[in-house]
Amino acid sequence: MKKITAKYPSNIALIKYWGKYGIQLPMNPSISLTLSEAYTETSIELFEKKSKEIEFNYFFEGKSNSKFSDRVINYIKNQEEFRPLLDNYSLKIESKNSFPHSAGIASSASAFATIAALLLKVSSTNDQSLDFKKKASHFARLGSGSACRSFQGPYMLWGKLDDVSESSNEYAIQVNEVHPNFQKMQDAILIVEDEPKKVSSSVGHSLMNNHPYASARFKDANKHCIEMLSTLKSGDFDSFISITEREALSLHSMMMTSEDYYMLMKPGTVSIIEKIFAFRNDTKLPICFTLDAGPNVHLLYPEIIKDKVEKFINEIKDQYKFVIFDKAGKGGEVFEK
Ligand code: DP6
Repeated sequence: MKKITAKYPSNIALIKYWGKYGIQLPMNPSISLTLSEAYTETSIELFEKKSKEIEFNYFFEGKSNSKFSDRVINYIKNQEEFRPLLDNYSLKIESKNSFPHSAGIASSASAFATIAALLLKVSSTNDQSLDFKKKASHFARLGSGSACRSFQGPYMLWGKLDDVSESSNEYAIQVNEVHPNFQKMQDAILIVEDEPKKVSSSVGHSLMNNHPYASARFKDANKHCIEMLSTLKSGDFDSFISITEREALSLHSMMMTSEDYYMLMKPGTVSIIEKIFAFRNDTKLPICFTLDAGPNVHLLYPEIIKDKVEKFINEIKDQYKFVIFDKAGKGGEVFEK
């Protein structure tokens, strides 16, 4: 079989997925911006084998990586559709990220997007009559929840929302109506700290299980999704800013108020947020921040004000270690290589 390769980007949630049940089924719907510069590229090769032993070789940036390899083997074993691949073939998977490993960007989203897409292509489950992106999104979710939102763009909705009949907890769908104001969003990721996360997302999600504010949080996220869909349609920057920032702070409040409380924001995170508030107040430019499960600040703004914002980012360069400039994207693809 020819070697095939998949390239899919990471994504940043505007409305956060935080709390899950079953196998990465979300407690509330989420909406994300698909990125383009931060991506994973993974290739797969299948060789005939005679032995009954599992033969699985996983290389990340040229080196074998046993921790992630075990996670991928378990993932394949647990999918009835993919399991025969492990029984019948020797598998070689090679993966690399476009962004530095230390950047604190969640790589499991782009990594599982590529892995699910590749396995789907090479397995017999790939019934061409069904929508490939939808199926890939479903299988990626079973590996890591946020991965299901990396197949299309620029905005994705994952999770059942009463107002949107096609929405589902099983996979993400593209947000159809997006105003030109939001089509070319930029995301400058200001890296405050580049050490690995102290508390994994999985542990964080589980702390929502008996969180005193859980039901209010899920209700709020639901409401924010409805509001964000109409905001994306109307082009209202003020509304985009207030929903996005409130969501980021709400996610971190959940961490800080869970029974085993913890805090991922650093002094640098708070200081950058204050500088953004001041800059916005002075200039009235439509920029805002969001955070994922870490201390780094994502600065979101439309392309049209890029030069002014880049000047601001340069002026506050003592506040962060380095910056990654990313922007809205449309997902990825699988190709022969
Ligand atoms: C804070 O998708 O990394 O980034 O499903 O357990 O793999 P698992 O978690 P993961 O959680 C992402 C959490 C988040 C918010 C989001 O991306 O919506």
